[in-house]
Amino acid sequence: MTRDEIRQWLKTADEARLEELWLRADEVRRRNVGDEVHLRGLMEISNFCVRSCRYCGLRVENTGVVRYRMAEEEIMDCARQAVAFGYGTVVLQAGEDYGIERDWMAELIRRIKGETPLAVTLSLGERSEDEFAAWREAGADRYLLRFETSNRALYDAIHPPLAGRRSDRFALFHTLKELGYEIGSGIMIGIPGQTYDDLAWDIEIFQILDLDMIGVGPFIPHPATPLGRMRGTHAPPAGEQVPNSEAMTYRVMALARLVSPRANIPATSALATLNLAQGRELGLMRGGNVVMPNLTPQEYRAMYEIYPAKACIDETADQCRGCMTGRIRSIGRAVGSGRGDSPNRSRAVQSE
Ligand code: 5AD
Ligand code: FES
Repeated sequence: MTRDEIRQWLKTADEARLEELWLRADEVRRRNVGDEVHLRGLMEISNFCVRSCRYCGLRVENTGVVRYRMAEEEIMDCARQAVAFGYGTVVLQAGEDYGIERDWMAELIRRIKGETPLAVTLSLGERSEDEFAAWREAGADRYLLRFETSNRALYDAIHPPLAGRRSDRFALFHTLKELGYEIGSGIMIGIPGQTYDDLAWDIEIFQILDLDMIGVGPFIPHPATPLGRMRGTHAPPAGEQVPNSEAMTYRVMALARLVSPRANIPATSALATLNLAQGRELGLMRGGNVVMPNLTPQEYRAMYEIYPAKACIDETADQCRGCMTGRIRSIGRAVGSGRGDSPNRSRAVQSE
């Protein structure tokens, strides 16, 4: 698909054309990754963060957050719970927290891999090559790091670097790939200052990066952040700002499926936050094939407030599982079994 075609899909207001896009995405999803929806148990293991991303509620400047870091045994309990629930993967996510030390993390990964059959996905921010290597050697399978936007000026405007370091996530993907990780990435939709051209380019990049997983969700303003207060942003020309809407999120999911037919594409919590009743289901019907039920212990959940009013804050891990599996079955899909490795590389692409 050319960038111009992508742009047209993003901008069309023609409901009949959009219906065609949903059907095409659903068909390409079915032929390439099948009807199984994979469950990834998400554990938010620490909300400490040294970074100052201008949209994120966990940024170091937000003193309103009570910070926590889960202990090894708490994480192992969650991992065992994931096994009991039949999840094939756990995702260990945190802010960029250097209190999560290389060797401590490596030992934890070794334990999970040694004591359970789980695939381990890490989402711990922009860490060093040395750390990525140690964690891979300990058995970590996948790494998630969104590039957020491919517009470098916009990226720089919302990601103040750490002193003496340039933030270059594309360079990190290269490192991670060399180390043998499956790579997940993605973007936020409707960042103030993000244009349709930017978004079309983001979607082309999904294809170029040959991602195993593509996670996208709407930008949700957090009042305790500069972007949430809409400060310091430059408005694009009239009609060019991408809305941070539910409808735009489905378009991006569907287009991601078309450009990357075999990728794993989650229906994210940010999408569910915009439409609690049906966001997950519609995401799964418009390209998605993964959901990430929350496994974080109840006492920590509300503290992992990347953005406000996040879906699944009040539910227990067990309720989240029941809710997700119910939603999957309600749309005639099957709950995935096993690890749900990315089929991206293994077989030839079946487009249409
Ligand atoms: N709204 C929506 N998504 C957000 N993220 C961070 N802050 C927000 C927000 N305010 C997303 C980013 C990050 C992921 C973990 O959460 O894309 O990569
Ligand atoms: Fe978590 Fe519904 S998916 S409660």
